[in-house]
Amino acid sequence: MPEQTQPAPRRKFRWIDFLGLLFLFGLALLPPRTEIHKLLTLLAIGIFQVLESRLIAWLPSRGRIYSVLIKILLATLLLGHTGSVGINSDYWPIYFLPVVTAAVYFGPIATLAWSALTALTYCFYILPAIFISGYEIPSTGYGILGIRVLFLFLAAILINRFAIEIRRQRDRYQEVSETLAESNRQLQRAQAEVRRAERLAALGQLSAGLAHEIRNPLGIIKGSAEMLQQKIGGSHPAVTELSGYISTEVNRLNGLVSRFLDFARPSRLELKSVDIRAVVERALEIARQRYPQMNATLERHFAANLPPILADEQLCEQVFVNLILNAYEAMGAADAASENGNSIPPVAPAKQPAPKITITLAPETKDSLSGISAEIEDSGPGISEEFREQIFNPFVTSKKTGVGLGLSIVAKIIDDHGGSIQVVSRPGHGACFRIFLPSAGANKLETETASK
Ligand SMILES: Nc1ncnc2c1ncn2[C@@H]1O[C@H](COP(=O)(O)OP(=O)(O)OP(=O)(O)O)[C@@H](O)[C@H]1O
Ligand SMILES: [Mg+2]
Repeated sequence: MPEQTQPAPRRKFRWIDFLGLLFLFGLALLPPRTEIHKLLTLLAIGIFQVLESRLIAWLPSRGRIYSVLIKILLATLLLGHTGSVGINSDYWPIYFLPVVTAAVYFGPIATLAWSALTALTYCFYILPAIFISGYEIPSTGYGILGIRVLFLFLAAILINRFAIEIRRQRDRYQEVSETLAESNRQLQRAQAEVRRAERLAALGQLSAGLAHEIRNPLGIIKGSAEMLQQKIGGSHPAVTELSGYISTEVNRLNGLVSRFLDFARPSRLELKSVDIRAVVERALEIARQRYPQMNATLERHFAANLPPILADEQLCEQVFVNLILNAYEAMGAADAASENGNSIPPVAPAKQPAPKITITLAPETKDSLSGISAEIEDSGPGISEEFREQIFNPFVTSKKTGVGLGLSIVAKIIDDHGGSIQVVSRPGHGACFRIFLPSAGANKLETETASK
C-alpha cells in the first residue's frame, strides 16, 4: 500500500483528545446502556485513540497500518454489540473512524483501498443477518446500505484531499526552511571569507610598505658592491667573486620586491581598445624567449569574430605571460617542479605526454556582459583538486625557484578588469585556465578605475 512519509505524530495529551473521550463517554450513556461488550469496546476505542500516537512513534512505518486495522476491528466489534443484527446498528458511523484515519495517513489510492476494506467489513454483517437471524432484506435496505458506504468513501476522499494539501504545504515550508538554513550557512561562510580578506588586506598593506622600504637599502647594497668591485676588485679576485654574488642576489631580491609590489599596489589601468589576439601572440613570444629550449606544440583556436576588449594592454599581456610560463614550467621547462615545494605537493607525475599548449579565444557573454573567453590548456600533470583554490593565493608555489605570485597577479588583473578566472584540471590531465574579459561595460570600468 503506498504510504506517505509523515513526521512522527505528537505524543502529548491535548484538550482535543479529552473532547474525543468525552464524546465516546456520551456514546456509552446512550442505549444499549447495559451492554457490557459495547462499553468495553468504547473503552478500547478511547484507550487506543490516546495511545495511537505512541504506537506510530514506536513503529513509524507499520504503525499507521496497524492503527487503521485496529480501528476497523473495534468498529466492527461495536456494531456487533449495538444492534439485534450488526448491519442494523445505529452505531455504523463508527466506521468513519478508520476511514478518516486512513485518509489522514495515506495517499488517495491507499485511502480508497482502506475505505473499500472498511465498507466490505461493514457489509459482511449482511451474511449473519440473512443466514443466522433469517432476515429478509428489502431492496430499500440495500439502497440505505449503498448510501452509507458511499458516504464513507466521500468522507475519506474529502479528508484525504485536505490532508494531502496540508502535507504539500508542510513539505514546501520544510523546503523553504532548508533553503533558508543553507543561505544562512552561505552567509556565515561569506562573513568568514570577508574577515579573512580584511586580515589579508591589512597584512598586504603592511608588507607592501615593508617591501617598498627594502628597495632603498637594496640599492645601496648593490651600489656598494659595485664600488668595491671597481676599487679593489682587480687586485683581489675574491672581492670580484663575492661582489658578483651580492649583485646577483640583490637583483633577484629586487625582482621579487617589484613583483610583490605589482601584486600589492592598487592598479592604475590604462584602458584602451585591445586586440586580444595580438596580446596573446606577444605573450607567447616572451614565454618562448624565456624558455627557448622548450619544444612544445602550440595549437591556436582563435575565433574570427573576436570583439576588441577594453583593457590595459600591458597588464593583459602579463596575464597571458604568467599563464603560458606556468604551462611551460608544468610541462617540464626549467625543470621547475620540486619534490619538496613550499606549499603544494606536486601531482603524481604520470607518464608525461608530449608538451602541448592549446590556446582558445572565443566571444562569450557572461552575466549579460559580452566579452571574450580565453582558455590556456597544457599537457602537464594538472593541478590536484584540493590545491585548485589555493593557487590564486600569494606565495603558494610548488616550484623550487617559484615565488607563488604569478597567479595572484593574474587574478588581481582579471578582477580589476571586471572579468573572472577559473581553473579546470583533472590530475593526470593538463591544467586549463579559463578567463573571461568583458568587452562591454566600458563606462563601468572607467569609473571604477578612476575611483582607485
Ligand atoms: N599550468 C599549470 N599546471 C600545473 N600546475 C600549475 C599550473 N599553473 C600553476 N600551477 C601551480 O600553481 C602554483 C602557483 O602558480 P604561480 O604562478 O602563482 O606561482 P609560481 O609559478 O610557483 O611562481 P611565480 O611567482 O614565479 O609565478 C604553481 O607553483 C604550480 O604548482
Ligand atoms: Mg608562475
